[in-house]
Amino acid sequence: MNIDWQNLEFEYTETQYVVRSSYKDGRWQEPYATRDKYMQIHVCAAVFQYGQEAFEGLKAFRGADGKVRVFRWRDNAERMNRSCEALYMPKVPDELFEKAVFLSLEKNIDYLPPYETGATLYFRPIIIGTSAKIGVGPATEYEFLMVATPIGRYFKSGFGTTPFILNRHVDRAAPNGTGPYKVGGNYASAFRATVPAHEAGCGCMFVDPKYHRYIDECGAANFFGVLHQKGKPTDDMSSYTYVTPRSRSILPSITNNSLMTLSRDLGIRVEQRRIEVRELSDFTECACCGTASVISPIGSVVDPDRNVTYRFPSKPGPVCTKLYNTLLDIQYGRSYDRYGWCVVI
Ligand SMILES: Cc1ncc(COP(=O)(O)O)c(C=O)c1O
Repeated sequence: MNIDWQNLEFEYTETQYVVRSSYKDGRWQEPYATRDKYMQIHVCAAVFQYGQEAFEGLKAFRGADGKVRVFRWRDNAERMNRSCEALYMPKVPDELFEKAVFLSLEKNIDYLPPYETGATLYFRPIIIGTSAKIGVGPATEYEFLMVATPIGRYFKSGFGTTPFILNRHVDRAAPNGTGPYKVGGNYASAFRATVPAHEAGCGCMFVDPKYHRYIDECGAANFFGVLHQKGKPTDDMSSYTYVTPRSRSILPSITNNSLMTLSRDLGIRVEQRRIEVRELSDFTECACCGTASVISPIGSVVDPDRNVTYRFPSKPGPVCTKLYNTLLDIQYGRSYDRYGWCVVI
């Protein structure tokens, strides 16, 4: 095994084991670890016909104290079950999810990146409908998979700033659709916006699918902007407001939820509400946030339809920096985890 930990990107690196469990006759089987990364499934499996698939993403960290920390797995399990419900798939019991994460961690422990490389071990839980289906309807058999792979930075810039392009022409989800669920179809249908944006070296910012007027989210991450009370010192956290969209078409991000909690602890006001695109000019800094992107400050947002470019400081601002360090300190065990977000091993 020869992995260049410092230069890993957000891509799959082969690991040793995948953990699997099958759902048959109305119940989940005991999960097991296998080296075989290929599955034999029927050509008519429901996942191929009607897109019965949902997934998750969570991380394990090698801490400053040498211990391993898995961040908020219960929240991922809960969100996966909401996705399962939305697609008429059986729920994955917490005990099964837990066993699969920790068995996968144990079996792939050599792939957990060393402390201070900036890389982490990423888990990708997946559920698919496997029984053969032609009539339109849900499968009767399913497979739950827990894939692990070491990952590095999500954007080339890491904790530097990234430019974004706003897109009003592609909706990643319908107003009452599957936006709040982590289902593969949301991502495939957004490729026609995200791929051209990435090819231009940018991230893609989506607006709400109903009015095309409010900021929704940023590719595979939530959005937040920061307001600063004029005349107050910039190092005084109580002079800032953290503003993040309230929308029925975005994925409720566990990272964003953590950042809202940490913001309140730091004395930063938190507002979760609709954000008009033109409010971008009010923010002193803004960023996207998620498990993969952590906090990625936004350098600029081009709105091609209005011929406007919103510009932000070329370096991460004080609030992004404070929140980034506060979150990573918890994940790497450098500060007290008062909310019990990490399972320590
Ligand atoms: C569409 C979308 N929004 C937001 C997020 C961020 O969510 P989390 O912080 O739970 O990773 C993700 C990634 O999971 C995502 O795919």
